Amino acid sequence: MKVILIAAITLCGRISPATMGSQEDRQLLERMRQETDASLLGAGTLRDGDPEMRGPGGVLFADRLRGVVSGSGDFPWQKKQLFCKGPVPLIFTGHELVAELGGRFGDRAEVVGLTAGPGGLLLAPAFAELARRGARRVLVEGGGRLNHACLSQGVVDELMVTLCPFLSGDRYAASLAEGSVPLGDPFLPCELLAVRQGEQGELYLRYRVKK
Ligand SMILES: NC(=O)c1ccc[n+]([C@@H]2O[C@H](COP(=O)([O-])OP(=O)(O)OC[C@H]3O[C@@H](n4cnc5c(N)ncnc54)[C@H](OP(=O)(O)O)[C@@H]3O)[C@@H](O)[C@H]2O)c1
Repeated sequence: MKVILIAAITLCGRISPATMGSQEDRQLLERMRQETDASLLGAGTLRDGDPEMRGPGGVLFADRLRGVVSGSGDFPWQKKQLFCKGPVPLIFTGHELVAELGGRFGDRAEVVGLTAGPGGLLLAPAFAELARRGARRVLVEGGGRLNHACLSQGVVDELMVTLCPFLSGDRYAASLAEGSVPLGDPFLPCELLAVRQGEQGELYLRYRVKK
């Protein structure tokens, strides 16, 4: 399986609010959904917005997997389109919450248990579950804490980062990878695979994570 982390960031590395991407960037994200078999989101991104993970032209792929990682299982899911339209999403949570959340979501979501590790839930089994369901390429769509967890647990193969021509400066806005420990010693090295300049002054960057 190949895992690709995708994000739009400001020049100062912030990903929030997620309005910095141009239409060209939005189209790239939608195309990547078309080219991959599954998307994974953090619960924070679901709380902050109403993501449905649609493809080009607003299409909701009937056979594409959509997953949310949540340690708490606590988000206003009744108000979110993810649980109303398209294929039933997967909720990845701790084993201890599976029965409770299974009852809460009924047939609106499928709840999958994960084991807790030192810095949160261990995510490799979530990707293994997606692979078991047929996913060969998976998109990690953020936000910052999910990105950090995936990177620190060594499950990301490539990064697709759109560097947008904006500065935020808001220290409270999520950054590309939000965690309490560095991802490396002190950095996690990456190798540049491709760079392209966009029409609105963005840079489309593609990196391989050196493991
Ligand atoms: N610019 C972009 O490309 C882009 C893309 C996506 C999101 N965003 C922005 O990013 C912001 C959200 O980022 P965020 O860092 O606050 O939230 P996030 O990463 O979306 O979600 C964090 C939550 O996900 C769950 N989670 C993630 N990894 C986990 C693990 N290993 N174990 C247990 N739980 C785990 C936890 O849920 P519980 O709290 O339920 O335990 C955690 O609090 C939003 O403002 C959104 O708009 C930007």
